[in-house]
Amino acid sequence: MTDSIHSEKFLILDYGSQYTQIIARRVRESGSYCEIHPWSMDDQAIRDFRPLGIILSGGHRSVYDPGAPDLRPAVLNLGVPVLGICYGMHLLARACGGQVDPSGKREYGGADIRMDGPASHRSPLLTDWLGTAGLKVWMSHGDHVVRVPPGFVATAVSQGGLLAAIESVSRPVFGVQFHPEVDHTENGAVLIDRFVRGICGAHGLWTATGFIDYEIEALRAKVGSDHVVLGLSGGVDSAVTAALAHRALGQQLTCIFVDNGLLRLHEGEEVMATFARHMGVRVLSVQAQDRFLGRLAGVTDPEIKRRMIGHTFIEVFEEEAAKIPGVRWLGQGTIYPDVIESAGGKTGVATNIKSHHNVGGLPERMGLKLLEPLRELFKDEVRRVGLELGLPREMVFRHPFPGPGLGVRILGEVRKDFADMLRQADHIYMEELRLAGHYEKIAQAFAVFLPVKSVGVMGDGRTYEYVVALRAVATRDYMTADWYPMPVELLKKISNRIINEVQGINRVAYDITSKPPGTIEWE
Ligand code: XMP
Repeated sequence: MTDSIHSEKFLILDYGSQYTQIIARRVRESGSYCEIHPWSMDDQAIRDFRPLGIILSGGHRSVYDPGAPDLRPAVLNLGVPVLGICYGMHLLARACGGQVDPSGKREYGGADIRMDGPASHRSPLLTDWLGTAGLKVWMSHGDHVVRVPPGFVATAVSQGGLLAAIESVSRPVFGVQFHPEVDHTENGAVLIDRFVRGICGAHGLWTATGFIDYEIEALRAKVGSDHVVLGLSGGVDSAVTAALAHRALGQQLTCIFVDNGLLRLHEGEEVMATFARHMGVRVLSVQAQDRFLGRLAGVTDPEIKRRMIGHTFIEVFEEEAAKIPGVRWLGQGTIYPDVIESAGGKTGVATNIKSHHNVGGLPERMGLKLLEPLRELFKDEVRRVGLELGLPREMVFRHPFPGPGLGVRILGEVRKDFADMLRQADHIYMEELRLAGHYEKIAQAFAVFLPVKSVGVMGDGRTYEYVVALRAVATRDYMTADWYPMPVELLKKISNRIINEVQGINRVAYDITSKPPGTIEWE
């Protein structure tokens, strides 16, 4: 199997920073494969990993705390380049004989830094990045290095006099007090790239095409002549999984698409058009609207609605899958953040939303083996692979959609007439966002149906109809989110169109709640 994509890989040891996943994404953006492992990974495992370079994340502890996560000897003994970020820098400094001031607090904020240290030393990591003018960085103002270890030099200092970066003069070992991985650090991605390509000499082997070629061979080798079943939801992850599995396995793949009556407008037709008609994928389309809506009648509690939709989905999926002869595998759109979370990795970053239906428990019950070809990818990489596989851009860049669909966007009882009104309103909203060029700037946007009536006037008459709320948020991790500052003119246009075109709606509201204290969905 051609496996050049994994032949240069980086090890990221996680010390509990909320930013660890972002470090990994930056390394991937520099074109190299990397994995996040807990800081406690043992020496043999570190050696067996054969990293081209190692990055130590930040963390919220103090290196002198009893029982604080420590540095595995292999990290420095392997002789590969090491970059320690914040807590990682403190560990390196202490291990090499320097001193850290344990202030004990962990505060972040912007800081201006500039080059420092002996004129005779040219930092291969910082010089070109930091330049003579200095840069703004996102800095931890907690513990910090106060004495540089023997054989090391200071390379950057903050305006407040804090040691911002150190490095060894004889080995490729670097420490930075700030967080180059976050957006608040000016050109931070360039510094990570300097480490990955410049210091470690990586060749940028991690590409979407490389991944596709590799995964196609891997899928074929794994599956042999067996048959695979996959639940297609209209979400990005399952769509890309299906496209990849189809390219590898052709007619050995059958997708099941369940219309639960809670999908977005035209979603069913679009999935069938793209996959069945256009790509020639075998798709069983199941019309289960009545079954879902029947079960949901009279149910108002959000969690009970979620559970009902989930259980009914599994039931329908199982019935359909049982009709396919010779199925041995279940394909799933699991992606890397899901893997990290379920491995119990304490990255602190959001439990990433699964845009595919949760079919937990199904593989065991049906005696199927799991096939998860995207489990090494971050969302942005999934999208790149999707585009490369020829999926339409609108599908690949679609906002996340929760498994229970409109079921949690119709507050209280779910009814077909409510779902129909919501679908139309949501469609108008998305259409206008795309037209105005805002859709891809927003992490997630949708309409919510409020089952309350309010009074209005239209023409000469008084109306007494339902309310729709519009939600749009900016977020990276979906754990925290800001409401999106939608241009007023655009809101005006969307509101006018919804009220004029959707019968039954006479009022539109815009949600200006951030998360926290709100959640992104209303239920
Ligand atoms: P909240 O509302 O918790 O949403 O701020 C965070 C992200 O998760 C999605 N979400 C779900 N996804 N099943 C899913 O597959 C669910 O039950 C569910 N609830 C929320 C939500 O759309 C947002 O992207």
